[in-house]
Amino acid sequence: MIYLDSAATSYLKPRNVERAMIAALHHMTSPGRGGHSLAMNAADAVYRCRAEAAELFHMKAPERVVFTMNATHSLNIAIRSLVKPGDPVVISGYEHNAVTRPLHAIGAKIRVARSPLFCPDALLEEVQRLLPGAKVMVCTHVSNVFGYVLPIREIARLCRAEGVPLIVDASQSAGVLDVDVSDWGAAFVAMPGHKGLLGPQGTGLLLCGMDGAPLLFGGTGSQSKLQEMPAELPDRHEAGTHNMPGIAGLAAGIEYLLPRRAQVERRERALLAELVTLLKQNPDLELFYDGKGEHQAGVLSLRSRSMDAETLAQKLSERGVAVRAGLHCAPLAHETAGTLNTGTVRLSLSPFNTTRELEAAANIIRGVIR
Ligand code: ALA
Repeated sequence: MIYLDSAATSYLKPRNVERAMIAALHHMTSPGRGGHSLAMNAADAVYRCRAEAAELFHMKAPERVVFTMNATHSLNIAIRSLVKPGDPVVISGYEHNAVTRPLHAIGAKIRVARSPLFCPDALLEEVQRLLPGAKVMVCTHVSNVFGYVLPIREIARLCRAEGVPLIVDASQSAGVLDVDVSDWGAAFVAMPGHKGLLGPQGTGLLLCGMDGAPLLFGGTGSQSKLQEMPAELPDRHEAGTHNMPGIAGLAAGIEYLLPRRAQVERRERALLAELVTLLKQNPDLELFYDGKGEHQAGVLSLRSRSMDAETLAQKLSERGVAVRAGLHCAPLAHETAGTLNTGTVRLSLSPFNTTRELEAAANIIRGVIR
């Protein structure tokens, strides 16, 4: 299979991820739940993963790295900590349902900063216009549909200047772009473990610039007499037994990335440029590409003029090319880009894809739409 769906879940992982997960099943139980060697092994692994994540994201305090189930879980903690019914909240026009659905459920007054694809200046102008009086801003770093890299550092600066707390959805950037939270001063940064961080499904991280309110309540292995959740991080947000195989696998993914993150970014951008060169001459295809790749990570959405997105993706799947078609759980992003009625076919890259795979996939696409 040629796997071009890494924006959904990375499938190609370093070998050590699997090895670490199996070792966790053999040698670890639950951190903070006993002084025996199996519990201590788990405590060590959890600490190691937090410390590695803190290093990757330029954080001084590993205890501010919280383990969650996925980015959606992280975003729910962040949003529920800061947003109350009726609060005005600014979001970009490229947000995923993991941001918009919790905001709708709370009853926030959503102000959408709409701006064209790959136009960071237009977005910044719109954010600046909408921020005064807002309670919170929630913004994705990279659009999961179009790979558009939003100007998050500048957005963070605008939020700081206006005194508006910022929640960043780093689902598509963590492990690929430089997610330097020391620079952003964000209230929370949410991410999955199973995409660019190369860990398994069922893992996520929440980087906490503030303490926040717990979403789940239960045992933490600490301060057991208290009937409230502990005030301290990370226990405040980590009720119940940890996903030890998942965390061990995630630690192996992050360990792989620590010396290679910049290389991964360069590789994905180079692969994106190759893919565009292979497909752009085809008059049947409309590519959503920023022209130079300057504001785009390794995700390419396209439409065929002769075939709907689902049919094209199905035909590609039958020929061994894995992509994702439709609205990608992000109808707002499609609405903003003008693709809500058709959806797109999304090809998303991993550092482990090869030029040969892209050439083969491009040939198959050409064959299918001929
Ligand atoms: N949000 C993930 C995607 O873009 C699952 O496919």
